[in-house]
Amino acid sequence: MTADEKLSLARFLDLATDAIRYGYRSEEREYQFSDDPAQAAVLPATTAPTAAQPAAPPFPDGDSLEQIAAEVRACTACSLCETRTNAAPGEGAQQPLVMVIGEGPGADEDAAGRPFVGKAGQLLDKMLASIELSRNSNSFIANVVKCRPPNNRDPLPEETAACIPFLERQIQILKPQFILCAGRIAAQTLLKTGEPVGKLRGTFKTLRIGDRDIPLLVTYHPSALLRNEEFKRPAWEDLKTLRAAIADQAAIADQAAIADISAPGEN
Ligand code: URA
Repeated sequence: MTADEKLSLARFLDLATDAIRYGYRSEEREYQFSDDPAQAAVLPATTAPTAAQPAAPPFPDGDSLEQIAAEVRACTACSLCETRTNAAPGEGAQQPLVMVIGEGPGADEDAAGRPFVGKAGQLLDKMLASIELSRNSNSFIANVVKCRPPNNRDPLPEETAACIPFLERQIQILKPQFILCAGRIAAQTLLKTGEPVGKLRGTFKTLRIGDRDIPLLVTYHPSALLRNEEFKRPAWEDLKTLRAAIADQAAIADQAAIADISAPGEN
């Protein structure tokens, strides 16, 4: 094989690995190959990022939710644009306590151009309301992919790879205090794991976006609850875990505010 052929093969293998492991593309690695068949070994440059360290997502200067929504609606980066009626960029509070992340629009969301408005969405709204959260006041709702996968199939790795930068930019702008991942696709994509929801749910994980670590909780997707009542109890446990963390954070903020109130003459 020539050096060029080896490079093409290495690039293809990297792409396949990223797609299978992470669902999106990490930064291109650097290689040095030789035409000499005796020198078959790959020599990655020492500074090249490894597959376990995908490149930091780019955050354009002056970015805004409106800008992202406009880009999402005009996006043709994957084939989902060919079958969508409307993209559903996301909606909710601008400085949310909680950002809820689902999988992708279904038929109702595709028709409305809004996330979680069908049966699963109505249940999600109820679940959020049970712990005093709402997209009208303190939560933002978005999906991993913004266009409907045909017949509600799982998004393909290349579709997730094309769409995830929109979600990362939304998180970077919104700076939610907490992220709630609804279901397997959101959880596995954001946590870059193949672990099942049953293993991932129940305890907080951390998601690093930009220079912030955001506490992330995984729970079952509302459609799973609609299909199987057995998921209702663990989902309620997850909601209580989130509610307790929100309360703890509010208590810490109260303490800080009280400490800031100085008695007359103290300053
Ligand atoms: N399921 C999702 O994951 N997201 C939606 O917006 C609707 C259903």
